[in-house]
Amino acid sequence: MKRVFLIVLDSLGVGEEPDAALFGDHDCHTLKRISTSGKFRFESMKKMGMGNIDGQDFLPRESDPAAAVCRLQERSMGKDTTIGHWEIAGVVSPSPLPTYPDGFPKEILDEFSKQTGRGVLCNKPYSGTEVINDYGEQHVKTGDLIVYTSADSVFQIAAHEDVVPVETLYEYCRIARKILSGKHAVGRVIARPFTGKAGNFTRTTNRHDFSLLPPKKTLLDALSEAGKTVYAVGKINDIFAGQGVTDMTFTHGNTEGMKVSLEALDRDFEGLCFINLVDFDMLYGHRQDVDGYAAAFAEFDRWLPSFTEKMRDDDVLIITADHGCDPGDSHTDHSREYTPLIVYGKNIEPKNLGTRVGFCDIAASVADYLGISWRGDGESFMGLIRKPDERESALVGAAISAMKNAYAPYSLHTVGAALLGGNGKIYTGCNIECATYTPTICAERTALFKAVSDGVRDFSLLAVCGGREQVLSPSYPPCGVCRQALVEFCAPEMPVLLIRSETEFERTTLGALLPRAFTPKNLIK
Ligand code: THU
Repeated sequence: MKRVFLIVLDSLGVGEEPDAALFGDHDCHTLKRISTSGKFRFESMKKMGMGNIDGQDFLPRESDPAAAVCRLQERSMGKDTTIGHWEIAGVVSPSPLPTYPDGFPKEILDEFSKQTGRGVLCNKPYSGTEVINDYGEQHVKTGDLIVYTSADSVFQIAAHEDVVPVETLYEYCRIARKILSGKHAVGRVIARPFTGKAGNFTRTTNRHDFSLLPPKKTLLDALSEAGKTVYAVGKINDIFAGQGVTDMTFTHGNTEGMKVSLEALDRDFEGLCFINLVDFDMLYGHRQDVDGYAAAFAEFDRWLPSFTEKMRDDDVLIITADHGCDPGDSHTDHSREYTPLIVYGKNIEPKNLGTRVGFCDIAASVADYLGISWRGDGESFMGLIRKPDERESALVGAAISAMKNAYAPYSLHTVGAALLGGNGKIYTGCNIECATYTPTICAERTALFKAVSDGVRDFSLLAVCGGREQVLSPSYPPCGVCRQALVEFCAPEMPVLLIRSETEFERTTLGALLPRAFTPKNLIK
C-alpha cells in the first residue's frame, strides 16, 4: 500500500528567486533569517540533508544525508498560499491573483451591498485585529459589514457574532464569492467573526475560507478519481475548496497538525495525506517574529523523528513550502522565494537534485509514485530518486548479461536489452552485426522479436545498456528504428530504464523517447 505524506511548512522559503524584485522583494531568505535566532534547532533536518540544498551555505552540510533534496523555483507568477499550493498540486498560474491595495472597486461593493442589504465599512488593507478595534463599534451600531483586504488576494468580512449570526456571515461570503469572478477572482473570501464589547473585541475560531476553485484538474482530483485517498490536514481542504479531497481533518495550528499527521500514519489507505502547517506563516512570518518562527521550526525538527520512525516501507514523506515569508525583511507580506524539497522513505535514494523549476514537479512525482497516469504541469523526479524494485533490478541484470553476447566485431559497440513480457518472462537481446553491415539488428529489436515470435504481445518494462567493447557507458538510448518497433507493441507509459552503470540507471518512458509516435491507430481504414 503506497502512501505519500506531503507536508507544507507554510512560508518556509530558502532564498530569493531570480525575479524577486518584480514582487517587491530583495534580501529575503526565510530559513537563513530564522537560523540566526537562538531558538533555531537544526538536527533532524540536518540529517535529512536540508543544509545540502543549493543556496544554504550558512547551514552545516550532511555528508551522509537520509533524504533526497532539491531547491524548487516557482513557475507561477505569484507568491501566495493558493497559487503556491495549486502549483504543488500540478497547476501553474501564469498570472497572479488580484490584490486590492486601494480597496475594492465601487461596482463590486455596490453589488455586494445590494445582495446582502448591508452597507460596507473600511474597504482597505488592514490588520485583522486592528480592523475590529477601529471599526467594530460602528459596525455594531449600524450593522454595516467590515470589508477589508491584505497584501494577499483576499476579500475579508468581519462581523460581530451578535449582530450577524455566523451562518448569515457565511452566506454573505458565498454571495461575495459569486460576485468576485473574472478579473476580480480573488483567492479567498474569508469570514472573520468576532465577539466581545467595544475596546475588547476578539476574533472567534469560526473563521472560514471560501476559496477560488482551481482552474484545472489537480493532483487531488486525479487521485480521488483513480479511487485513491486524498486526506487533507489543516487548511488544505479550504485551499482546494474541497475539490478532490476524500477525507479531512481541520487543525488549529502546527502542534495539532503534527499530532494529526502522526495519527494519519496509523490509517490504512493508498494515496496522499496532504498537510499544511500554517503557524510559520500566520503567527510568525507575517508578524515578523524571528524567534517565534525559529521556535516553531525547532518544534517541527524535534517532532520529525517521531514521524519517520513510524513510517512503513512503502511510505514516502515529502517536505516543502508554498512561498516565503521572511520575518526579518522590510515588509510583513510573503516573499518570492525558492522552496525546499525533502523526499524521504525506504524507497528513496538520498540524492541532491540541485535546483528544479516548478513546484509542480511534486504533483507529477506523487502521481508517478502512486502509479496513476494523470499528468498535469510538471515533470516527475521520482525516476531519479526511487530505489529499484525487484523487477527493475532483475531487468537491469538481464540486460547487462545479454550485452555479453553482443556480436559487434565491426562497430565494437556492444548493446544489451531486456524486455518484461506480460507473461512475467524476461526476453533478452543483444546487437548482432553483419559483414555487409545493413542486416545488423539492435539489441532492443532482438529482444522484442524474440518475445513476439514466442507469442507475447504486451510488455511492461524495458532495460537497455551498452558500451564499447563490453565497458558500460551511460549513453545508449534506443535508436529511432527500435523506438518505432517498440511503439507497435508497447504503451507510451511503459517505463524504460537507461542503464548508466552496474548500480545506476535513469528512468524514462517510451512516450518520452518517442512522443507523438505513428502507431497502428494512425492508419486510416
Ligand atoms: N545498437 C543497438 O543495439 N541498439 C540501439 O538502439 C543503438 C545501436 C547497436 C547497433 C550497432 O551494432 C551498434 O550498436 C553501433 O551502432
